[in-house]
Amino acid sequence: MSLIALLPGDGIGPEVIAQARRVLEALSLDLSFEEAPVGGAAYLEKGHPLPPETLALAKRADAVLFGAVGDPRFDAVERAFRPEQAILGLRRELGLFANLRPAKLFPGLEDASALKPEVAGAIDMVIVRELNGDVYFGEKGRRTTMDGLRQGYDLMSYNEREVERIARVGFETARVRKKRLCSVDKANVLETSQLWRDVVKSVATEYPDVHLTHMYVDNAAMQLVRNPGQFDVIVTGNLFGDILSDQASMCAGSIGMLPSAALDTGKKGLYEPIHGSAPDIAGQGKANPCATILSAAMMLRYSLDDEVSAERIERAVAGALTAGVRTPDLGGTATTAEMADAVLARLA
Ligand code: NAD
Ligand code: IPM
Ligand code: MN
Repeated sequence: MSLIALLPGDGIGPEVIAQARRVLEALSLDLSFEEAPVGGAAYLEKGHPLPPETLALAKRADAVLFGAVGDPRFDAVERAFRPEQAILGLRRELGLFANLRPAKLFPGLEDASALKPEVAGAIDMVIVRELNGDVYFGEKGRRTTMDGLRQGYDLMSYNEREVERIARVGFETARVRKKRLCSVDKANVLETSQLWRDVVKSVATEYPDVHLTHMYVDNAAMQLVRNPGQFDVIVTGNLFGDILSDQASMCAGSIGMLPSAALDTGKKGLYEPIHGSAPDIAGQGKANPCATILSAAMMLRYSLDDEVSAERIERAVAGALTAGVRTPDLGGTATTAEMADAVLARLA
């Protein structure tokens, strides 16, 4: 029996987690579920966005399925107590440094993409985003400059070990795909990026079968829209990966479609849609649950070694979309539950 920690969180988080749970339950696997509050919901209930009990459950579980955190009501709260600290804390505390964010266009979603159908149709990539470093976790704060101005700062840094381990994940991911790895950085300006590029190049000597290229992040943002089909695997830092994956999601139809896996070196993983708590549509039954359902599929694949069930879910999602069932973000009228119903109906 595998224990799955369900952390629904805020906004549409609970709505999409409920649907992913239905899908997992329908597979009749040997799973048990335990739910715990996280984010703004946990702050209200327990006084902290990542209460010790929630962290302990995440540590004890075989895998974590996470909804989303974030609530505009807490935008003015001290940073340490903001809902977003929960997901950052989980990634750090669990050592989940490798974030796989696959972006591919499901058949029939060409019209939902922000790109021309023939351009969108070629998207099939994985963004490998480093998740434990960068400006996210560097020294940050406020100070006053010599001339009395308020100043904010966030230190960007990577050490060679951090770059090496994520580079390896990039090469390993590319090795079992089309063997093309594009490392995205800003080495023309940033010292952090120059070290990143040097280290990626040295790791490349161990992967002669993988074709490595380097691209500046500004160009990568442009190329993602011009010709996303050129990318197989992108490996990049925490901040660039965050931004590029949201962009890639719209190329593939919707932010409501992209799942992700946050992994350590072993089997432990946290699985979540790349989107946030979407306060603008929360509580209205409009959220697309596919990203979370597909995250559950990634969970079965990576943490539970159940490739068969993972593919069952992915085929069911593809089938539901091909049949024209779509939430509003994809141009349809299906509710969150109706979208999941259509997936459930195709699980067999
Ligand atoms: P967001 O991803 O929540 O929403 C951006 C836009 O996409 C909104 O218009 C929203 O309605 C839409 N959208 C997102 N998910 C959707 C879905 N499944 N179906 C249909 N439409 C969807 O980003 P934001 O508005 O910048 O952030 C809102 C809150 O979420 C903030 O507090 C932010 O910090 C947080 N956030 C959390 C996570 C996370 O928990 N991992 C990720 C991103 C943002
Ligand atoms: C994501 C989110 C988070 C990030 C925030 C909420 C901390 O945008 O998971 O993509 O920046 O990593
Ligand atoms: Mn993001």
